[in-house]
Amino acid sequence: MLKGKRIILGISGGIAAYKSPLIIRLLKQKGASVQVVCTQNALKFVTLPVLETLSENSVYLDVFPKNRAYSTEHISITDNADAMLVAPATGNVIGKFASGIADDALSTTFMAFDKPVFIAPAMNTKMWLSPIVQRNVKMLSELKHILIGPGEGDLACGYAGAGRMSEPQEIVDSLEAFFSSKSLSGKKVLVTAGPTFEKIDPVRYIGNFSSGKMGYAIASVLASRGAEVVLVSGPVSIAADPKVELIATESAMQMHQACLKQFPKCDAAIMAAAVADFRPADFSNKKLKKENTDSLTIKLEKNPDILAELGSKKKKGQIVIGFALETDNEVENARKKLNNKKADLIVLNSLNDAGSGFMHNTNSIVLVDRTGKPIKYPLMSKTEAAAIVVDALEALLNVKK
Ligand code: CTP
Repeated sequence: MLKGKRIILGISGGIAAYKSPLIIRLLKQKGASVQVVCTQNALKFVTLPVLETLSENSVYLDVFPKNRAYSTEHISITDNADAMLVAPATGNVIGKFASGIADDALSTTFMAFDKPVFIAPAMNTKMWLSPIVQRNVKMLSELKHILIGPGEGDLACGYAGAGRMSEPQEIVDSLEAFFSSKSLSGKKVLVTAGPTFEKIDPVRYIGNFSSGKMGYAIASVLASRGAEVVLVSGPVSIAADPKVELIATESAMQMHQACLKQFPKCDAAIMAAAVADFRPADFSNKKLKKENTDSLTIKLEKNPDILAELGSKKKKGQIVIGFALETDNEVENARKKLNNKKADLIVLNSLNDAGSGFMHNTNSIVLVDRTGKPIKYPLMSKTEAAAIVVDALEALLNVKK
């Protein structure tokens, strides 16, 4: 899908620039050609010979080169490209893009670029979370630029948290998904993602560790293949793909209501949310106080099982895919869920697999369907796992590629 595509790779001056050569290699391996545009500061982290050798191209660095009388390279290179990828994109460069500052090779190229732009931010957590950077990122998303990450993890500055550039493979996967065939155009898919929070009192809730990453990755892959996607999400701290319609919910009851409303209009549903099975039977309007008591019992009542309801009562020809998160008798329990909830496919996650499940950027999945043996996939990025789930959905929908 990237074969023959011409990609401008913008590199700005952050420590993650040391990974940019790998992005060039991966793009070239997929058959794309790469034109690097970088800031002067990027060259403090990666060298020109490396970038030029791997891209097999000269690097565009200087708007006013000494050996030429005039230069409009920032315009001409944009004419000859299919997409622009900025990785890493520092807080400074994101700020320039968002506010229309064009004062070097990278920012002038961005301003002149009228085709898809992918931005992979990388910076310290405190910078990433600063209201100004968040505002700028939101503005770029609203302008339909495509954000990739950032992920969470250890940062070069010694901090840990959000701000780490997505891995080169994930970045290249996102571009590939974008250029993949629009096999799901005309289809509408409901996706649930994230945890649900069940309120105990105005300040406390019962929740779980779901990050929403798997469901959000599925929504994004579906959208990249041309599906209309409605993403019903519990509370998460990640951004949804701008191509997706996001319905934000908090509790299982709210998620249930939203799904019942959307499902009849959909061709399929992929239920990746970690829905709380129970909610407190009584919500206290006032904060519960600890005085005069040494223990506290909270009575819980059952939440509706959204997947089971869609699969066994509401389904009118739609394909329904569920998830199963298990710690023991994994395949057997997944099969039970497949049958009890009348799903067409269960995507099994085992918490016993290192790197799988909540919070991780990777997942190792097993597909359990009605026809044959469970299919186990190796540990991979959640974007890659999402592509496998969407491939399986396409097969169930009999989509022609
Ligand atoms: N699910 C749902 N509504 C619920 C509970 C689960 O829609 N109230 C969906 C999840 O989105 C997932 C599947 O059912 O697709 C399985 O969820 P999981 O938590 O693994 O299983 P449960 O059915 O909750 O059973 P248990 O917790 O006992 O394993």
